[in-house]
Amino acid sequence: MPGPGLELVGDEELAELTDVIRSGRLSRYGPDDETFPAKVRRFEEAVAARAGVSHALAVNSGTSALYLALTGLGVGPGDEVIVPGFTYVATMSAVVYARARPVLAEIDATFDLDPTDVSGRITPRTRAIIAVHMLGNPARLAELRALADGHDLALIEDAAQAFGASYGGRWVGSHGAAGIYSFNEYKTITCGDGGMLVTDDEALYRRAFAMHDQGHSPLRHGVEVGARPMLGLNFRMTELEGAVLLAQLRRLDGIVAHLRANRDLVRSLLEDLPGIGFRELPDPAGDLATHLVVIFPDAAMAAAVTAELGSITLDRSGWHVYSHMEHLLEGRTVSGRGCPFDCACTHEGPADYRAGMLPASDALLARSMSFPIGVVDPNLAPFGLHMRDDAEVAHRQAEHFRTAWLGHMG
Ligand SMILES: Cc1ncc(COP(=O)(O)O)c(C=O)c1O
Repeated sequence: MPGPGLELVGDEELAELTDVIRSGRLSRYGPDDETFPAKVRRFEEAVAARAGVSHALAVNSGTSALYLALTGLGVGPGDEVIVPGFTYVATMSAVVYARARPVLAEIDATFDLDPTDVSGRITPRTRAIIAVHMLGNPARLAELRALADGHDLALIEDAAQAFGASYGGRWVGSHGAAGIYSFNEYKTITCGDGGMLVTDDEALYRRAFAMHDQGHSPLRHGVEVGARPMLGLNFRMTELEGAVLLAQLRRLDGIVAHLRANRDLVRSLLEDLPGIGFRELPDPAGDLATHLVVIFPDAAMAAAVTAELGSITLDRSGWHVYSHMEHLLEGRTVSGRGCPFDCACTHEGPADYRAGMLPASDALLARSMSFPIGVVDPNLAPFGLHMRDDAEVAHRQAEHFRTAWLGHMG
């Protein structure tokens, strides 16, 4: 079972789904009366209230939500968007399909964007910074927000991996111009596949809504013909997904409390190991705690210990490290090369992406691993705790880790 929400799917989700089937309406639109359960709209309202934002737009994936954040802001050809080199490939793809260029930046000991490195990559073309809260850990939002504000850039939060995490007492996703969440099977809560955009910006919301539904006004209310802001596509969420997510949302607080208790237990069992380090948490109270990221004294020891545990170092995480994204590095588009990687209309020369271009990130990732606390992703590491695992399993796993660590100490 990959993520915590998926492990708990049961009767509450079934009851919500039954409501939808009985109503006979599977699309998010229906009559404004008691015959229509309006699960998607109710889920949007519930998340907006928890995140403290005025608008939430449920969509079919986190990738779509990222694309909508960018197009909602009007990002397009000729623009640059700063993204971390350690993220899921969707962060890059959304920028590319908005036909802007991703500019890769280093991560720091938070395993999220390094604000100092970001600052050096801002150019007159930069339109936005995407802060990705990797492995549930909120990025340095105060610094990134100050940078964005100081240069008149939009800060977008990719909180796909951090639904339910917070920074300074506010949910991540609510700190910039727009934030996004994912509800795929590896995430805090899930409906199989789904996503959400949150924002306080009415204009951005209206544009994002239009892009997600053929140019329509929010909830298809209001005059449309002749007044649609742009051609849109279809990224709508169905009532079936909204139903499952409403039930999952009621489980969120229990999930987060359980993850944090297990993270604290595992950390307390490991922290006296000689030479061990942990990633920095810019707001320790807000970490989602799906992962305890461990830093080794050097890459050789990290490789040896992870091999013994049947795990991997984070640099080998195929989907999450820029140097493994050959489709990005080679600028592959549907038609071969072209916009945004190589376009005479917008840039003097082609984009230049290379393995090794982020040496600080490469070095950090090569000497670290995730001790999974509630998301067991075979692509990251089959080792770790599942959501239903108790203290006894945590003790056993930690003992396994300790033995490997001590056996490979130089
Ligand atoms: C950091 C990050 N951004 C974006 C996404 C895309 O979300 P989805 O899979 O819902 O499209 C993911 C999904 O794994 C992710 O981890």
